[in-house]
Amino acid sequence: MAGAESQNVTDYPNSNTIFMVWKLVDDPRLKEVFQQLCALVLNLNNSVFNRFPDSRASCVFGIGYNAWSMLRLPTPLPKELVSFEEIKGEKHTAVSTPGDLHFHLRADNKSIIFDMAIEISKLLSSIAESILEIHGFKYWDDRSILGFVDGTENPHNEDRDFFAKIGDEDPQYKGGSYLFTQKYLHNMNAWRSLSTEEQEKVIGRSKENDIEMSDDVKPANSHIALANIEGENGEELKIVRDNMPFGSPSTGEFGTYFISYANTFSTTKKMLTNMFIGNPPGNYDRILDFSTAVTGTLFFVPTRDMLDEFSG
Ligand code: HEM
Repeated sequence: MAGAESQNVTDYPNSNTIFMVWKLVDDPRLKEVFQQLCALVLNLNNSVFNRFPDSRASCVFGIGYNAWSMLRLPTPLPKELVSFEEIKGEKHTAVSTPGDLHFHLRADNKSIIFDMAIEISKLLSSIAESILEIHGFKYWDDRSILGFVDGTENPHNEDRDFFAKIGDEDPQYKGGSYLFTQKYLHNMNAWRSLSTEEQEKVIGRSKENDIEMSDDVKPANSHIALANIEGENGEELKIVRDNMPFGSPSTGEFGTYFISYANTFSTTKKMLTNMFIGNPPGNYDRILDFSTAVTGTLFFVPTRDMLDEFSG
């Protein structure tokens, strides 16, 4: 089971993304359809690599804690696969919401992922209910809907693999990844009422040119001051993020789908604790005064080799 060929967790952001979350229903065909699904995910990836190599298309498939036991997948579980427990600060809460299967579909050409989503949905509709579907898009030069470039301090090269994929600490699940997602809705009226200078203090970087503020200017409650964390011995702790904006100009609903891949969930959790409880407690992330987390779910992303085994 120690297959190390990972799914495409370290791919770079592209122009179009579809996120889907499904909830399994109790059905006698559960196991059989799940096996077919694992084979389909492998097939879809192989097919698009071959047919559209320039579109950087992929489907990354994650499985939640509840689904792992419903599907009677191998034990012991991946070491840190749990049901995410909410993190409640004085003012803001990182809520925990259900989700059994997560799909992260990426491509420069939207037609590719649209058809992938159709194939997955056709198969899943007999054993699961769709509980979330978000179509994210590349907004200008990788900006979040708040207007700031998002993704700059992501790790690259070997660091990208190291921080996104489980290593020797959990040999059975080596090459897998902890996927954490949150759907955020933004209060754009409140955000737009801030001057550019005030918005920059919320993020900790300049808006137009994406330059980090120096430590003596950067507010302690800015997003990057709280999200940038170190381990006990001063070592860097990072995750690989691929947030995507989404929105509907006519209804005024705008948001960010936060998505991260990590070799250990404890890093993501520590960032969330800093943001929601604050560091020190009470000094919470100012971005949360303009952004409400409406979902929060942890998944495990098996390797391609594990998917092959699960497919029967
Ligand atoms: C940095 C946006 C939620 C972790 C950033 C940056 C932006 C941003 C604009 C600066 C550029 C960059 O380095 O990427 C957002 C938005 C969010 C959100 C719009 C949702 C409303 C989160 C969450 C986490 C997180 C939930 C962690 C659990 C980070 C990290 C950095 C960062 C680690 C880099 C910090 C550094 O080393 O400078 N984010 N973010 N973000 N964000 Fe977020």
